[in-house]
Amino acid sequence: MRLFVAINFNDETRARLLALRDELRSRSARGNFSAPENLHLTLAFIGEVSPKKVEKVEAILETVAFEPFDVSINRLGTFSRGTLWWAGLREDKPLMDLQREVEHKLALCGFEMDGRKYSPHVTLGREVVTDVSPWRIEPFGETVTSVELMKSERIGGRLIYTAVYRRNANRGENL
Ligand code: 2AM
Repeated sequence: MRLFVAINFNDETRARLLALRDELRSRSARGNFSAPENLHLTLAFIGEVSPKKVEKVEAILETVAFEPFDVSINRLGTFSRGTLWWAGLREDKPLMDLQREVEHKLALCGFEMDGRKYSPHVTLGREVVTDVSPWRIEPFGETVTSVELMKSERIGGRLIYTAVYRRNANRGENL
């Protein structure tokens, strides 16, 4: 199964992201825009692993301890020669430290990590064709209290993400 570790946002943040996605869509000739339920921040992409590895990843995440922390979504940007549009997060220490720890622990346990510099972003659309450049946005954010292990599946052509495990801040209750 295809796995990644992510932060999923609350309804208010999701609504703000969705508004940006909709604005982008209205300014684009075409594109493959993220479904509302798929708007997330990836901390670490694990990729295809056998189902029995899930427990191993869960055990790793269980060792990751963090306090609740604030994140701020403060800019738009693009990858892939301007075709992948994202909303970017401010690179604050709590977020960057948590990401580094998750990636490092996964790598130590043999999961192959991408190795590129982490750039915290929420993908709004892929294969976007538009005349506009990323515009300034008013920052918004929330307090993050959990990270989740996500399963990615393509069902009937649609990308479905499901949380299979949750690690709460401050040793809270886990799934
Ligand atoms: P993206 O939105 O920038 O493509 C599920 O695919 C999540 O993992 C997405 O948030 C995706 O980021 C991220 N991801 C990171 N590296 C990836 C890779 N090599 N292949 C696919 N997805 C990747």
